[in-house]
Amino acid sequence: MTEITAAAPTVPAQPPAGLGVEELRVHVAGLLERSRARSTALTEAVDEADLVAQHSPLMSPLVWDLAHIGSQEELWLVRDVGGREPLRPEIDGLYDAFQHSRASRVDLPLLTPPQTRSYVAEVRDKALDALERSPLAGRRLVDQAFAFGMIVQHEQQHDETMLATHQLRAGAQVLHADPPPAAGPRGPREVLIPAGRFVQGTSTEPWALDNERPAHPVALPAFVIDAYPVTNGEYAEFIAAGGYDDRRWWSEAGWKHRTEAGLVAPQFWERDGSGSWWRRRFGVLERVPADEPVVHVCFHEAAAYAAWVGKRLPTEPEWEKAARHDPATGRSRRYPWGDEEPTAVHANLGQRHLQPAPVGAYPRGASAYGVHQMLGEVWEWTSSGWEPYPGFEVFPYPEYSQVFFGGDYRVLRGGSFGTDASAIRATFRNWDHPIRRQIFSGFRCARDATPGEIGESTVGRH
Ligand code: AVJ
Ligand code: FE
Repeated sequence: MTEITAAAPTVPAQPPAGLGVEELRVHVAGLLERSRARSTALTEAVDEADLVAQHSPLMSPLVWDLAHIGSQEELWLVRDVGGREPLRPEIDGLYDAFQHSRASRVDLPLLTPPQTRSYVAEVRDKALDALERSPLAGRRLVDQAFAFGMIVQHEQQHDETMLATHQLRAGAQVLHADPPPAAGPRGPREVLIPAGRFVQGTSTEPWALDNERPAHPVALPAFVIDAYPVTNGEYAEFIAAGGYDDRRWWSEAGWKHRTEAGLVAPQFWERDGSGSWWRRRFGVLERVPADEPVVHVCFHEAAAYAAWVGKRLPTEPEWEKAARHDPATGRSRRYPWGDEEPTAVHANLGQRHLQPAPVGAYPRGASAYGVHQMLGEVWEWTSSGWEPYPGFEVFPYPEYSQVFFGGDYRVLRGGSFGTDASAIRATFRNWDHPIRRQIFSGFRCARDATPGEIGESTVGRH
């Protein structure tokens, strides 16, 4: 077993505009290398028995994620873009997420850890060859290196899933990272977003996935959104006030789930004899820090907290407007702070820290409206179901987004401390079942603006 340290991102995340084909290849190769370094670190941190074990019925064995990363890369970059024959056609079905539930993957005749490592290395070799040969133009799949960007994002998404498996796994600490930056001064707790249209989604972001497209105008009434995610300290007040036992704050489905699952606090929290909250985080037992965004709550818990404070969760378009609309220019930004690449001063991303940072820690990452920490920290639950935008077109395959539309899912936005910069944008959409909380999920609240607030904002704009 090797102890690992998460590497800070060194390569720009989204493809910068106007790169020549050779520069684009270098950019892509850097991102592929970075995602592989992370996959390697996450899988070398534990021994072989741990790699093939099932740490939770909600998760795959780590060795499955690694081989699946290789399998998707082979499918798109080696077979499709590269035009090569399958390397090991007999394993395709094993690593098809639709053929086997996460809980059943441990019983499959999976490649062993050494076989998996050599498989993914062989695939990578041929994918780099495809990168060298592809004109990265002329066909939508390769235009602006889309397929490569998609595969980088896919690997990073599974790396975040593997990080969640690490969090679920019993045993001593094997992952290490620097602590997050300290909190800065906190500004106003809420921000008014005046009524008006903004552009949701994108038609121009080269590596945006199909569900983020197309760009389309959305008109919203004035609303108010929390300037920061809800913190552990705030959430603990809800618990102390008996929030988990008060039917009033819960939806019918939420109350049913809370009762059946016996929910009493966020996942991984426990109370000591004196009533203080502790949490288990990647193998370490520590006091719950009051000023960090709460993490590992399900949609129902988030919605109940919001009801308790007299608010609600933001809708998906409200979240996106608060995150990226620039009222000065009328434009929607790539990131809350602008179009500049995320760096360590903008957001807590990429497993640079293995926990959320205290609220107020990223003043330079605030949106045009002054809403903080919308990217990184914790995935934020919204009240919206998982639906396509008007004009949605499947690209390049229906099993990424389309087959999940209309199901029992809620949209999450913004990414977490475990999301790499190459797999997040202000347009990026995630979704999960409302009962899930092994993901790095938290939330912020919103509410309708009062007539008084709407009046004041109108005065303010004249
Ligand atoms: C978008 C995070 C819901 O992990 O299930 C990975 C991403 N899709 N492989 C997931 C994904 C195919 C997906 N989420
Ligand atoms: Fe996948």
